Amino acid sequence: MREIIRPTILMCPPDYYGIEYEINPWMNRDTPSDSARSMQQWQTLHDLLRELNVKICLMDPVKGLPDLVFTANAGLVWKNKIFLATFRHPARQGETPIDNAWFTANGFETITLPVGLNFEGAGDALFCGDTLYGGYLVRSDASSIQWLGSELNCRAIPLQLVDDRFYHLDTCFCPLDATSAIYFPHAFDDYARRALQQIPLLIEVNEKEAARFACNAVVVGRHVVLNEGCPLLEASLSKHGFIPHSTPLDEFLKAGGSAKCLTLRLDGEEAAT
Ligand code: ARG
Repeated sequence: MREIIRPTILMCPPDYYGIEYEINPWMNRDTPSDSARSMQQWQTLHDLLRELNVKICLMDPVKGLPDLVFTANAGLVWKNKIFLATFRHPARQGETPIDNAWFTANGFETITLPVGLNFEGAGDALFCGDTLYGGYLVRSDASSIQWLGSELNCRAIPLQLVDDRFYHLDTCFCPLDATSAIYFPHAFDDYARRALQQIPLLIEVNEKEAARFACNAVVVGRHVVLNEGCPLLEASLSKHGFIPHSTPLDEFLKAGGSAKCLTLRLDGEEAAT
């Protein structure tokens, strides 16, 4: 009998999540997160993904690493390899040894990019079809994306991010399948926008919904899980045959994150071919 492979996602409970430093325009220590609400919102996302038949793997939270909940940034997973993040900000650099240990213990080969290259994992590197799109300038370096492209022997397109609010690629771009994606055009420079417009179906998000992190969605087959408050995107998704599921994630918006940031697909994104 053929083995049925379930989509698998890595998450990390928000026990030590909080706004302890400010490394993006969303973070403000004077607007702290509420622990009970964060826990509840994270759990609801977790349970929703489970209902969509996702297998969830958990990483133990670590005191003093409030952003470890954003597992998307651990690295770029490719088959049984993970290209680990090399965080730009010292505040997050302590996460990498923890990620390294988890992936090693779970049978992955862990790879570190050449010294001097910043790279923030699936937050800034997303496959759509056979192309690896990479966000650069704010966190990751363009050379990191080029290096990954030659390592994986695939087409790699660095996309310049021009609005600090959308500091990771997954805050303004979300591949849905090999030929469709969601994006917020104003987060990109002209060249990047033109490169993205090669994708056959590109669903545009408006400024208001982009600021609700509409693009930061988790895709599981035709299901798309996103923050609540994005009705226009939900309507376009439905029109194009996707099934949107919204869930409250505003506690994580305070750190500049939402659904996608809180997850890392371990078995390969379905949009990748
Ligand atoms: N506070 C975190 C940071 O600024 C949020 C990370 C969100 N992750 C993501 N994949 N966009 O690094």
